[in-house]
Amino acid sequence: MRVYKTKDYEGMSKKAAFLMAAQINAKPDSVLGLATGSTPVGVYRQLIQWYREDLLDFSRITTINLDEYRGLAAENDQSYRYFMNHNLFDHVNIRKECTYLPDGTEPDSKKACREYDAIIKGVGGIDLQILGLGRNGHIGFNEPGDYFEKTTHCVDLTESTIEANKRFFQKEEDVPRQAYTMGIQTIMGAGTILLLVSGEEKAEILRQVICGPVTPRVPASILQMHPRAVVIADEAALSRTENLGE
Ligand code: GLP
Repeated sequence: MRVYKTKDYEGMSKKAAFLMAAQINAKPDSVLGLATGSTPVGVYRQLIQWYREDLLDFSRITTINLDEYRGLAAENDQSYRYFMNHNLFDHVNIRKECTYLPDGTEPDSKKACREYDAIIKGVGGIDLQILGLGRNGHIGFNEPGDYFEKTTHCVDLTESTIEANKRFFQKEEDVPRQAYTMGIQTIMGAGTILLLVSGEEKAEILRQVICGPVTPRVPASILQMHPRAVVIADEAALSRTENLGE
């Protein structure tokens, strides 16, 4: 795993945005795997700025998001579809019909997951995937478990994740208890993976991700096995991971 250390969140965002822009310019019809959460917001902001400066063109880009809360419709301001529209898609020239997330409103979870896997297969897989890191080591909504889930599946969110994500909701009871998420095998199938991590509160879990054993107890640790996985993390996030980071 290549590890880039940046001074702060802004540096992390800029570095990741440079790599994404390079991907878009090198292959204008790229399939980008996108993430939600607070971590990638700065990357999206930078990409929007470059689009406005005429440096980026999203007209042939396809996007596949990692996950969506089960039960939330696109209009719900806590849905990941709403987040993506608001933080990226509404501000660039991407064709909305080429932006995909699992269908949170599909009550039949098997159907929702099967259909999402068919979409990913149909677009030919993911060229570049960006990931945030959950406080318990999750990627997408692949929570710690006994084995690595392969394809899109429905997950029961852990208490730790509900606790971490309740800040976006009015009250804790409003946080959905389930989500549809891309599986580990699909994530690992991406050509390049960028794992973005910022902040001291993720320092210990990031140390385990990079230096610990590969285990489904720390889902992101599987990235050690990916030939083109890049960690872009700020000094605070790497504060427990000595001597690492270019
Ligand atoms: C959520 C998302 C993840 C994200 C994680 C971390 O649970 N499903 O994809 O990486 O939160 O969020 P944040 O970036 O806000 O710390």
